[in-house]
Amino acid sequence: MTDSIRVTGGRALNGEVHVRGAKNFVSKAMVAALLGSTPSTLRNVPRILDVEIVSSLLRLHGVGVDYDVESGVLNADTTTLSPADAVDIAQHAGSSRIPILLCGPLLHRLGAAVIPDLGGCRIGDRPIDFHLEILTKFGAEVRQADDGLHLSAPNGLRGIKHELAYPSVGATEQLLLTAVMAEGITTLHNAAVEPEIKDLIDTLQKMGAIISVDTDRSITIEGVTELRGYDHVSLTDRIEVGSWAAAALATGGDIFARGAQQRHMGSFLNTFRKVGGEFDVTPDGIRFYHPGGDLKSIALQTDVHPGFMTDWQQPMVVALTQAKGLSIVHETVYENRLGFTSALNQMGAHVQLFRECLGDKQCRFGQQNYQHSAVISGPTPLKAADIEVPDLRGGFSYLIAALAAEGTSTVTNIGIIDRGYENFRGKLTALGAVID
Ligand code: EPU
Repeated sequence: MTDSIRVTGGRALNGEVHVRGAKNFVSKAMVAALLGSTPSTLRNVPRILDVEIVSSLLRLHGVGVDYDVESGVLNADTTTLSPADAVDIAQHAGSSRIPILLCGPLLHRLGAAVIPDLGGCRIGDRPIDFHLEILTKFGAEVRQADDGLHLSAPNGLRGIKHELAYPSVGATEQLLLTAVMAEGITTLHNAAVEPEIKDLIDTLQKMGAIISVDTDRSITIEGVTELRGYDHVSLTDRIEVGSWAAAALATGGDIFARGAQQRHMGSFLNTFRKVGGEFDVTPDGIRFYHPGGDLKSIALQTDVHPGFMTDWQQPMVVALTQAKGLSIVHETVYENRLGFTSALNQMGAHVQLFRECLGDKQCRFGQQNYQHSAVISGPTPLKAADIEVPDLRGGFSYLIAALAAEGTSTVTNIGIIDRGYENFRGKLTALGAVID
């Protein structure tokens, strides 16, 4: 498959897409299966690159992984779990950050774990300091070697009291996956409470874990000595749903996202409505459409759940280039997630970046010289350009921009988009996009 796509824009996207399980839950649930002494079954699993990467990582550890694309059922048999080689892990992990989450489960089940150098999308530093602090607090010993970090737990893992400096999704998952089988009680304050984390907690509970979530972002876990496999249906990918919704808005289209769940998308739906988009919630999904007339400018700030997700920001910025007036976007989760707008300007958009916090709150990045606020002036007709995908969500946003633009754009490095958007080429074609 070639790593570029030609998009002839200027047409509305109309029709239906089926959105399956959430990339950012499915990959973690597959890791959770490692904790079970019996096989697990995960349902509604999409065919995306991240699922392939985690499947390879599990297979390297002796896990039998069997995935049926049509039904979306993935079985993981962990009864033959065994250690893997650091070089193989690094080779299969690609740019994924998932290996860091394997540490707790592998320490419990095998007494050792290895992490290669971690990648992920180029949207900021994306450090792993929170993760290592948590693992060492539980009692893990970390040794740095040429092939990565080697972890062991000679004295076992014991429950901790911990407070996160920031409600990090990955660090909360790290703590959950380690605490469930650690000796004694673990408490976490300032935890992330994204729906994907709630689904992970439900999955762990099915496995035999004892976890309670309080209303103040605190989580308490009582460690148990053994967990079994689970059978669980993944929640829908709300980032993919938001991406299609933004595509409907930017192209003046009408898209039914089959599988979309309202309860996980409250802040997105409010924003979509304020911009001037319309939506109908049905039991089977949500229809998103542009009702005609002008879109409205808005002030938007990304935040941890229940705020407006950072992953919705990039597609929505493309739609805002078509809104009348000045929109303000303040990115408070990642310091470098607005860099993708330079290509939009190349296509005719007017997006200006600022180092200041242009929102109603001061965020961590305000004093640090990061261009993390944007002012978008619209509406601006977009024209075709040759653009290179910088990261997963920025990449899909470039496709939206190319679909909204007059003329034929060439978008390169699109392989990254396969990490999180199932069959996006087929779905685009079904919606009437002209791509080759
Ligand atoms: N952070 C640290 N130290 C750490 C970990 C995080 O400083 O050890 C900082 C990050 O640099 C960032 C902030 O904490 O500024 C939030 O990061 P978080 O840990 O919440 O993000 P993550 O777990 O690495 C997941 C998703 C991201 C999504 C974020 C926020 C996965 C695999 N990734 O990342 O998804 O944007 O949560 O919701 O679940 C995507 O799907 O395209 C994507 C990037």
